[in-house]
Amino acid sequence: MTIFLGIDCGTQSLKAILWDAEAGNVIDSAQVAYPLIAGLPPGHKEQHPETWVNALEGCIAQLKKKGNAKLAEAAAMSVSGQQHGFVPLDSSHRVIRPAKLWCDTSTEAECAALLDAAGGLTSTIAETGNGIPAGFTISKVRWLRDHEPDNYRRLAHILLPHDYLNFYLTGQIAAECGDASGTGFFQVRNRRWSEKALQWIDPDTCLLEKVPPLIKSHKPVGTLRHALSERWGMSETVLVSSGGGDNMMGAIGTGNVTDGMVTVSLGTSGTLYACSSVPVIDPATEIAAFCDSTGNWLPLACTMNVTVATEMIRSGFFTMADFAQFDSGISNLPPGSHGLILLPYLEGERMPNVPQATGVLLGLRPATSTPAHLARAAMEGVTLGLRYGLDRMKSLGIEPRVIQLTGGGAKSRVWRQIVADVFDTGVACPVGDEGAALGAALQAYWMWETERGSGRSIKEITARYVALDPETVTAPNPKSRDCYAELYEVYLKFSTLFCTDCVASSDSVFARHRHFVEKYS
Ligand code: XUL
Repeated sequence: MTIFLGIDCGTQSLKAILWDAEAGNVIDSAQVAYPLIAGLPPGHKEQHPETWVNALEGCIAQLKKKGNAKLAEAAAMSVSGQQHGFVPLDSSHRVIRPAKLWCDTSTEAECAALLDAAGGLTSTIAETGNGIPAGFTISKVRWLRDHEPDNYRRLAHILLPHDYLNFYLTGQIAAECGDASGTGFFQVRNRRWSEKALQWIDPDTCLLEKVPPLIKSHKPVGTLRHALSERWGMSETVLVSSGGGDNMMGAIGTGNVTDGMVTVSLGTSGTLYACSSVPVIDPATEIAAFCDSTGNWLPLACTMNVTVATEMIRSGFFTMADFAQFDSGISNLPPGSHGLILLPYLEGERMPNVPQATGVLLGLRPATSTPAHLARAAMEGVTLGLRYGLDRMKSLGIEPRVIQLTGGGAKSRVWRQIVADVFDTGVACPVGDEGAALGAALQAYWMWETERGSGRSIKEITARYVALDPETVTAPNPKSRDCYAELYEVYLKFSTLFCTDCVASSDSVFARHRHFVEKYS
């Protein structure tokens, strides 16, 4: 038995791959796209967990339809999920309401209340290792308490998206440290739930009883439910491994399981993360202190707006254009887009922590008013945001030699060059670049080997199966690098536009603008 199923539940789609450990390659894959719930106020980002389940069923149906007998041979599977989303279940394991997602920025007031309850940022860091940005699960649970008390009263289980899919697959409720470390109520240093942080949410309820028991990353949650194994034509003995957050699984899928490696993921969000054998705590909390899903830690910088910004420009200004046309428009312009810069904080941003921000263009004039200029400014703007994360990571002692690029954006040659130039570091993509889905398949394989007592480590497994694609190796171009070094200085000043002091005054241009938008749009 050498076939493993890797599932990646993202913000825009769910993907499933069948991976063969003997051949070391992906033999089949399926994908089902889905939207966010439409019509919610700005900053509210939700999906119903049923959407993910339907997409999973759709992917399995696709794999079955292709007549691929390999599905029946799968020995184990694993789920990677978008981090931080809050799936509330009642005591009968029914979903109480849609999940507020990682990109939901509507909980600014709850973050402030939690920080207050914790006694300030220093106490928060001392307890959990992290701050309380809007993205993390903790403010979403508090939001339920404060905004939907009836729903909150019914709350019996607090799950993350991948925990919910694991529950669907096995009927078991469990969590693992990588994804759990993104909740904001987890002690990252000791790898256990924080009772204190759960009390910041609600001192009158024992929320510790509502979080799942933690299992180790290389352990199974359970076996595939009988009803599913029958319907899907899979073996009754298929094991489901712990799974993890998409960045933790992306780390495995890019072979980032030893100290000092850095992966940059250009997906809906942008993330930059490094494996570390010790916890890495940022006193400024700009770098999130996460655990990984192999027993190590995963300091991570996240910007909320990456392909969400480039896709907005592509769909809005390049009607019907495919990616190649979009990329060639960008390639025809010089670095710096003739001075057009986009601050891509479309519906708020996490780094910098400005949940109320919107996108802003600087340098719009007749000569920069083409779709290609907007496209390049978007690609450059999101990359400059990630460069800030890289600098912050370096200040914590992590110095990458080469950066592994993954995610949808990494497929673009021009974007790879922009990343190399802006970061002033060589970049390359793994062969095949299945990212988090491959990470899931590899983790399933690791768990399966461990259960058989083979003693094969995750390092051995990734060393054997993950290699960089020589076709994608990209070195910085000295001229462009110098141009971006200057542009970065402009970006840094520009990015302070939404700093707390600037937006705090009710008379500021931002407060007035927000009020206007709320009233008239
Ligand atoms: C990381 C984060 C995002 C989501 C995207 O902290 O919020 O990368 O995991 O799915």
